[in-house]
Amino acid sequence: MSQVLATQQVTSSPFLRALQGVAQTPVPFWLMRQAGRYLPEYRALRATAGSFLNLCFSPEFAAEVTLQPIRRFDMDAAILFSDILVIPHALGQKLDFVEGEGPRLGELDVTKLVYDADKLSPVYETIRRVRQELAPDKALIGFAGAPWTVACYMVDGQGGGEFTRTKIFAYKNPEAFDALIAKVVDATVAYLAAQVRAGADALQLFDSWSGLLPEPYFTRWVIKPAQEIRSRLAKECPQTPMIGFPRGAGGLCQHYAEQTGFDGIGLDTQVPLDWAVENFGKGRCLQGNLDPVLLLTGGDALEQGVRGILDAVRGQPFIFNLGHGVIKETPPEHVALLAKTIRSHAG
Ligand code: CP3
Repeated sequence: MSQVLATQQVTSSPFLRALQGVAQTPVPFWLMRQAGRYLPEYRALRATAGSFLNLCFSPEFAAEVTLQPIRRFDMDAAILFSDILVIPHALGQKLDFVEGEGPRLGELDVTKLVYDADKLSPVYETIRRVRQELAPDKALIGFAGAPWTVACYMVDGQGGGEFTRTKIFAYKNPEAFDALIAKVVDATVAYLAAQVRAGADALQLFDSWSGLLPEPYFTRWVIKPAQEIRSRLAKECPQTPMIGFPRGAGGLCQHYAEQTGFDGIGLDTQVPLDWAVENFGKGRCLQGNLDPVLLLTGGDALEQGVRGILDAVRGQPFIFNLGHGVIKETPPEHVALLAKTIRSHAG
């Protein structure tokens, strides 16, 4: 038995086996934002919880919301219900989610940021509850935002634009920006390791805004922090596979895949699958990349989109997903059709 196989856990989860580099039939699937506003049962619980942050920090509610899509559609993995912005919150930056507008963060003073691990203990309780309820062949994905993406919200104070303020700040003051990234890296490693101790089976790092940085900054603030998080977690939890999702990175995906050492690479809708398989997908699990608007559209267009992806990755270790999150107007029946199309596709 090879060294790699000898150190890997035997698992009944198709999702985890794909991340170990073994092609699965049928292809395992989950969807970014699979728990959320397109589901009436989510909207009902969200109304009971009041604020979005209250939902994230109430283990009973958050566990229930995490499990809702699995009960309906039988995905191969559940993703913890939380948000990437709980890290700035735990670092002491004020955070609010304004109804209908999105996140608003308070003033940023990098020297005053101190990570308070206790603020995130409800998240670990959510993970324990979900893991107890999930079947053994279903994986539980923990996650965090990548430092660059989290820093974008911390500096700009909100989303919605191109994060030009953050980029100007970083380009003018690269050392000060390095210091902010370093603080977010440390907090992220502590947070993800604690998620694994609580029962997360795999981790995903969301770099939603990596596509805003050209080289050499992409290497400095996307690849390097991801490498550091990966290598520090490999020491603390060597059995736990990690997926990196460098959204918008285009051709830089290849450098990201080769240099970060992640077990899986998430691809957005613009990355050609044949190019990705050829250049960095041999033996490495790829994940993606259906256009969320095809899921919103449904019908033949959806079925053809799903089959096109599955044909392109035949024989490769692959996890089916969208290229970005489920759009909130998506009819739940379209997700049921997607699940049926994936499950019935001949490998
Ligand atoms: O199902 C899942 O994917 C798990 C839960 C999850 C949420 N956010 C719940 C959420 C995950 C993994 C995230 C990640 C996240 N959060 C990212 C990275 C992925 C991406 O979308 O690019 C980012 C950039 C955020 C930050 C964030 N959270 C914004 C900008 C917003 C407001 C915009 C919006 O869609 O409303 C949120 C809120 C948020 N996070 C909601 C959900 C379900 C909607 C809140 C509500 O119910 O009102």
